[in-house]
Formats: sequence, C-alpha cells, structure tokens
Amino acid sequence: MCGIVGYIGPRDCGPLLLDGLRRLEYRGYDSAGIALIDQGKINVRRAEGKLRNLEAAFYREPMPGKVGIGHTRWATHGRPCEENAHPHRAGSVVVVHNGIIENHLALKKELQSRGRVFESDTDTEIIAHLIDEALAAPQGGGHPLHAALRMALARLEGAYAIVALSEEHPDVIVAARAHSPLVVGLADGEQFAASDVPAVMEHTRNFVFLDDGDTAVLYADRVDFFDGEGAAAVREPKRINWDPVSAEKQGYKHFMLKEIHEQPARIADTLRGRIDLENGNVELGEVDLPEGFIRDQLKHVQVVACGTSYHSGLVGRYLMESLARVHTSVDLASEFRYASPVVDENTLCIAISQSGETADTLAALREARRNGARVVAICNVMESTIARESDFVIYTHAGPEIGVASTKAFTTQLTALFLLAVWVGRQRGTIDGARGQALLTEARHIPSVIEGLVSNDEIYLQIAKDFSHARSFLFLGRGINYPIALEGALKLKEISYIHAEGYASGEMKHGPIALIDDDFPIVVVAPRSKTYEKTFSNLEEVKARGGRVIAVATEGDTDIERHADVVLRVPHVSEELQPLVTVIPLQLLSYYIADFKGTDVDQPRNLAKSVTVE
Ligand code: M6R
Repeated sequence: MCGIVGYIGPRDCGPLLLDGLRRLEYRGYDSAGIALIDQGKINVRRAEGKLRNLEAAFYREPMPGKVGIGHTRWATHGRPCEENAHPHRAGSVVVVHNGIIENHLALKKELQSRGRVFESDTDTEIIAHLIDEALAAPQGGGHPLHAALRMALARLEGAYAIVALSEEHPDVIVAARAHSPLVVGLADGEQFAASDVPAVMEHTRNFVFLDDGDTAVLYADRVDFFDGEGAAAVREPKRINWDPVSAEKQGYKHFMLKEIHEQPARIADTLRGRIDLENGNVELGEVDLPEGFIRDQLKHVQVVACGTSYHSGLVGRYLMESLARVHTSVDLASEFRYASPVVDENTLCIAISQSGETADTLAALREARRNGARVVAICNVMESTIARESDFVIYTHAGPEIGVASTKAFTTQLTALFLLAVWVGRQRGTIDGARGQALLTEARHIPSVIEGLVSNDEIYLQIAKDFSHARSFLFLGRGINYPIALEGALKLKEISYIHAEGYASGEMKHGPIALIDDDFPIVVVAPRSKTYEKTFSNLEEVKARGGRVIAVATEGDTDIERHADVVLRVPHVSEELQPLVTVIPLQLLSYYIADFKGTDVDQPRNLAKSVTVE
C-alpha cells in the first residue's frame, strides 16, 4: 500500500504535494519522493525513510513547478531505499504507482532486450519505460500521453493506481486505476489526483472516485475521463463533507474498523501473483530452497511467533500437517529459545511477525538458525530486522497496520500460511493438481466472502449493548478453529479490557465448566466441520448450566439456534480456509464491545504496536 498525490494548476505545488503526502503517510512510510515540471524539465527529489527526510531535502533547496506528482512508499518489490523510492523515471516520463504488477519480471526482460536500462528493483519502473516507449509512436486519438498510457496499461497484469507526467507534455497529468484506489479532485482552474480524499481535501471537496479500468487526463481547467475501453466517460463528482481526521480513516471511527474492512483487498493482494491455477500450484519464488529440500530432506516445521502471529502459526500447524503431512510444532517465541528446541538442518523454521521487529521472535529465529534450520519469515514490513535476518521472506501485503490490535495482518498471515502449505504439499505429493486447483479456486473467493461479512455489522451494536457488562468471556473452538477462539479472546482482552480466555472446546469439561453461569458469556466457534457434532455437544453442556452463548455458525445451520442466544453467520467454506472467515465476526464483536465501552480502541492502554524488548 502506498500513497499517491498529483497536482496541475497555477500554484507552485511542491509544498502542497508534501502536505498531501503527510496526510497519506498512514499508507506507507519507508521512503517518499516528488517530481515537478519546471520550464519543460522534470526535477525529481526522493528520500529514504519517513516523509520528514524528503521535507527536509525539499525545504533546503525548494523546487518550483506548477505540475507535479508525489508518492509515499510501502515497499513490496525492492527494499526501501532512495533508488527504489518513487517517482520512477524513464526518458521524458515519470511515474508514481500503488499496487503490484504481477508480470513485471517478464516485461523487464523484454524491455531490457530492447536496450532499456533499469535503475531500481521495483515493478513500477517498467511502467515508466512502457509509457516512454509508447510515447514515441502513440496509437489512438486524443492526448498523446493518454494514448501512450493506455498502450502501457494493455501490457500490465496486476493491481495499480498510476499517475504520470511527461516533459514532452507538460499540459497534463494522466492517471489510471485497476484494483488500487485513486480519486480525482476537481476545483476551479486546478485539479488533483490522490490515493485517498484526505490528501487534498483542504483544496477541494468535489471528488470523482475512479472505477476499475478508468483513466483520466487532468488539464489545469478540466478533467477528461475514460472507461476501460478508452471511450470518453461521464463521471459524476461526489461532494465530501467528512472532517479531515475521520477522512484519514476513510470515514471509519477507528483505524481498527477501517483495517477490518480492508481485509478482502489485502488478502487479494497477498494472493496476487502467487496462484498458478492451471497447475493447481503456488508460486513462491521468494522461498528459494535448495532443489529437493522440501521433498527429500524436510522432516519438521517449527513455527515461532508471538501474540496474534502465534495464533496464525497454530492455524499454520493444522494446514501444514493436514495438507503437506509434515510434523509441525508451534512455539511462543519467548519460550522457544529457553526450551532446548529440537531443530536442525532438516527443519524449516517459520518466523511470523507483522512488524518484523518483535524482539522475542527475532531471538527465536536466531536460535533456530544457530541450530542449522532454514528460516522463512512471514512478515508485513519490508527490510524489517526479521525479514533481513531470515533466509527467505514471504511478504504479506497487509499494508501499514495502525490499530494496535492486529486484524488484517492476521488474515494475510493466514493467507500466506495457506499458500505455503499448499506449496509444500504439492512438492511432497500429498496434494495432487486437482486438489490444488480446488483449494486455490476457493481461496480466490475468500475476499468476496469476507466482503459480505464486514458489510453487515449492525448486529454487533445490539450484542455490544447486551454483553459489554460481562466481566469475563470464554471463547471455545476445536481443530483449526481452536486458534480462532484464542485470537477472539485476545482481541476482546486487548481493546475492551474485559477478561477473556480461549479454550479448546473439548477441554471445557476438564475445568472451566465450573465457571459457567448467566454472567459468563461463552463464544463458540462452531462452523460445520468434521468436529461440529462434538462442539455441538459442548454447547449443550454450556446451555444445561445456564450459560449465555454467542455462536459463530454456518449459514443454514438451524440446529445451532436451539443452543445459542445469538448466532453470527458465516458462509460455508472448506475447513482449511475457515479461520479466514470465522475470525471476522470475532474481530467485529470485540471492536463493537470496546467501542460501546468507550475504550481507546486504536491505542489500548499499556500496549505497543511493535514490542522490541524481550
Ligand atoms: O509484529 P508481531 O506480529 O511480531 O507482533 C506480535 C504481537 O506483539 C502482536 O500480534 C500483538 O499480540 C497484537 N497486539 C495482537 O493484536
């Protein structure tokens, strides 16, 4: 996830672009840059690190220009550094981009074969080259830079929001959108492009939200819009009346709620470019293990992680053992290094961390490496310490997670673990092509399933009223949904300050059943699965003792209604993918209870987003 801003009009726009980037910094902050056209020449300034570095460089030596673009980066391809910071330039063209170009390697090779030289490791630079090449002989009518942009877009696969400038055509900015957000702000005599409304809402309240496939040509005095076929299109502006603070949260009350709603897009980003449906396989070129290691040498998978990432690791064990038939252990990173772990050169260690800076996880992965294990990190932050110290990294594409309570990082970790388990299973022959195809086809539908769940959250307001006075909750789940019970309990604890425990359903009768009364709500994760009947019996045990039950259950399951006071419905999906779906109601439940209680949802007391002490 990155932030884009563009301007064309009568003002010297450097400060305006920097101000826009500051408001987009929540989208990424590992490097930033701007490009301005001044007297027919494009000047670019970029800086590694937070935006303040770029601001300092700009104000030391201000750049004039009434047409410009800017970018704040969250690295996905190429480490965070000045060379990889946007804008990227090729010939007379500069480009900023948010998204992932899936076929960038093939395009780069092709461009290099025509003598094009690259200066960065990014997928974005190819876009600049493609537009620059097309500018030499733009096909189709209209503005030449727009025609060249459309020729370049025809070559791209993946997701993008793109804004581009050319020295040859300083009268326009061109913009395009496919699966990554982009808005155009309209004003009198000046026009704006941005990833998100808050970037420029100080200057205009009239916005066109581009549709997928749309392109736009921004002149100082007007904007021309085009649909995916390149035909002129009418796009009605919407008037935005949000206040600037809520606008950064895109109108959501808290970042956590925004991040819950973002999950379909972020899961789709994590899947993007990694599914080979034709062969029922997964492409994980980033895990460049020696040939035959997975098939012949791998004896043991060892997961290390903390908190929510540990819970995703527990789901990972289930996936790795059921899909790839590899013995898998999962340890809390803080325990692992003091526990004489049995890992060696036949072990694949998976270190899971959103931040990539968690001290316990870092210490655990170092211990695993000392013992000869190869380490794959599943990590959200490029070039973080854990990413750098691991042998290989599978990046989750959750984008910056601002809320302290992890939501989209968790579901993108589950997505990465699912892909990894299918990949290992295919190599070990425990999954054949047909099964791989079936699993991956279903995985591709998960974002739309989650979209349905997050867009229907009214029920949680009533639950919050009815249950937020309870002093303690018990969360129950079995099998692959047991870690989801743990995660549900953690979410409730950390943001609502209500005590909660997660338990394996079958263990309830061995102790916690003594606690049950009508003031001790039980949340049971009970989708239809091979353990459903057993979980159902546990529910009966709760009900017989007067407990109040909230059940997460499959759509169409009417039996559950006899034993649950509230039923939160989820669509049926295969067991391997269930956690991605069953965790959503628990995130929403915790969020609405915490919000009803009025706690500080995004920054709960005593917690930090990144825990860098052991
Ligand atoms: O950045 P990491 O994934 O390594 O962080 C691990 C935990 O600190 C983190 O998941 C924590 O438990 C969250 N607050 C959970 O919401």
